[in-house]
Amino acid sequence: MTLILGIETSCDETAAAVVEDGETILSNIVASQIALHAPYGGVFPEVASRAHIEAIGPVVAEALEQARVPLDDIDAIAVTRGPGLAGSLLVGMNYAKGLALGADKPLVGVNHLEGHVYSLWLTERGEPVRFPVVCLIVSGGHSEIVAITDHGEYTLLGSTIDDAAGEAFDKVARLLGLGYPGGPAIERAARDGNPQAYTFPRAMLDEGYNFSFSGLKTAVLRAVQPPHDGKREPKGEGLTPDQLAPGVNVADVAASFQAAVVDVLVHKTVRAATEYGATEIWIAGGVSANQALRRAMTERSPIPVRTPPLSLCVDNAAMIASAGYFRYIQGYRDDLDLDIRPMWPLLSIKDAMRREER
Ligand code: KG4
Ligand code: ZN
Repeated sequence: MTLILGIETSCDETAAAVVEDGETILSNIVASQIALHAPYGGVFPEVASRAHIEAIGPVVAEALEQARVPLDDIDAIAVTRGPGLAGSLLVGMNYAKGLALGADKPLVGVNHLEGHVYSLWLTERGEPVRFPVVCLIVSGGHSEIVAITDHGEYTLLGSTIDDAAGEAFDKVARLLGLGYPGGPAIERAARDGNPQAYTFPRAMLDEGYNFSFSGLKTAVLRAVQPPHDGKREPKGEGLTPDQLAPGVNVADVAASFQAAVVDVLVHKTVRAATEYGATEIWIAGGVSANQALRRAMTERSPIPVRTPPLSLCVDNAAMIASAGYFRYIQGYRDDLDLDIRPMWPLLSIKDAMRREER
């Protein structure tokens, strides 16, 4: 039995978890900062770092306590090294190093995207996984299609060339005055809307596996802003509900926008899965909580689709512990002078061990 303590502070959640053998969650503590950032309509990096500093000690202590595992019994400490906000990553990294040094435990740096992939490993499943699998990772910072050929073996098929999927949800929600975080707010508003009311663009639908969502965001802006006098360019963001063009139905806009995002995500993922002979499609990351996305992917995929439970869609440390476990059992260790990588790409474990990426 191998016990990993996971620590995650890459964005606005302070999280710690204890996971057994990479797939059984013994504890999973998440302190969310959503309420702190809501007034800003997005994550305020300095506020996030300070909140992490306050929360990290109690969150780690609670994770160990709830798991009933003393630090002594932990085999390794897995911590998010990147990508993410530098100031936030530093808090988790320094805390993990302190624990590793003090308790004489190995340290394993984990890529946050790899963590999202491993949220699927913590998900109940009947049969063992057969690789290759194609995973769509969609969060506030990322929209990636990845082919997974074995544990830790990734081929990046496509990513966004501008906004991430979650970022598009957040920006459009702000535009429509729906609040933060935007994804759940849009999904709620869309329930009463007609997804065919507006025809929004589906960028690069049949071109490769990259995404672009900035044109869609602009199309939504054009649809909802009032006609202006031509003297002044209207600001791109931040319309209040009373500034929307007369006759705009927010529910219809939200539903049509969501349909456009879902359409592109599903179309490209299913095409990639077919081309790469995947046995399953996985969806991970904050946007994978979206029910319209889950439904459309399941309906349109010829192979089984797996999604994490809602509690594992958002940032958490159980997924970091699971990813860390599969690195640890392959012999991956980091030194105690490990640095953070705010822009770290998703590397296969063999490349990461070979290259001077460590
Ligand atoms: O994975 P995550 O918690 O943090 C990052 O690593 O970015 O993802 C957060 C993102 C936010 O952009 C949020 O608006 C989006 O996930 N999100 C959703 C939903 N729930 C969260 N987007 C669409 N529909 C949802 N139900
Ligand atoms: Zn994330």
